[in-house]
Amino acid sequence: MRRPSVRALARPLAGVAAAALIPLVPAFSAAPAAAEGIVGGFPVDVTDVPWTVALSSRDRFGGTRSGQFCGGVAVGPTTVLTAAHCLEEDVLGSPPHEVPDLKVIAGRTDLRTDHGQEVAVRESWVNPGYDDVSNSGDFAVLTLAEPLPPGAVVAMAGAGDPAYAAGTAATVYGWGDVSGQGDYADVLRAASVQVLPDTLCERAYPAGGDGSYLAEAMVCAGRRLGGRDACQGDSGGPLVARGRVIGLVSWGSGCGRSGSPGVYTRISDALRKLGWDRAGHSHMAG
Ligand code: ARG
Repeated sequence: MRRPSVRALARPLAGVAAAALIPLVPAFSAAPAAAEGIVGGFPVDVTDVPWTVALSSRDRFGGTRSGQFCGGVAVGPTTVLTAAHCLEEDVLGSPPHEVPDLKVIAGRTDLRTDHGQEVAVRESWVNPGYDDVSNSGDFAVLTLAEPLPPGAVVAMAGAGDPAYAAGTAATVYGWGDVSGQGDYADVLRAASVQVLPDTLCERAYPAGGDGSYLAEAMVCAGRRLGGRDACQGDSGGPLVARGRVIGLVSWGSGCGRSGSPGVYTRISDALRKLGWDRAGHSHMAG
């Protein structure tokens, strides 16, 4: 299914069954479904990528994996970017400011442990321009009650940054589904992908579908033959190239399928919409 669906966390099998029934790219439908990874990835230690954080609500998602339900990326000591669709009411059960145990977890590679830090969210701001038809504008800003450890932030790639060029090597991080079948990771994983040409995602996701690829607002990434990708539960987490975050995990059709790349929120578009490209980002719009 193409829609961003953290809902699949609650009903993973329903989501997978739906995805399996949509023969989006018939020419490739005989290709084996990719089945390892973040999908196709490898374990990483969060101390190597300390700006990769987990969003958590134990009340809503249970305690076994620290309540993790989405990813995020720290871009300032008290500022975390995530996906707008992670904070929708149908995911959280209520508006984010009414979720008392909404937290950001930093420094915890293995969600079964109590390592690292859990920080309360003081304020959440969901992009009011998020369009759940195309899925464009899929970003939100969380302001933390306390600062993260010094150095736990990553730079953001602004408009015109060469890191957005097709062919650039990039890495995506998350604790999401490793198989496309609802197997959520306990330990942080990463997948090595590439920024893909916009035309590939425009072809895979034309207007009129459950999402449509808009090059100015999104980044297309994966592997031409599939196999490495983000998946459910990775949403909001970072796609990093040349040491800078270029995207947030947003949506895709299935996970790691040939002909259906991952679609990411384009950070430079979020920066522009937040007004952060003009005045730095010590404060935010709204
Ligand atoms: N919407 C999913 C989530 O909420 C992320 C899906 C990303 N899919 C992909 N094939 N890259 O976690």
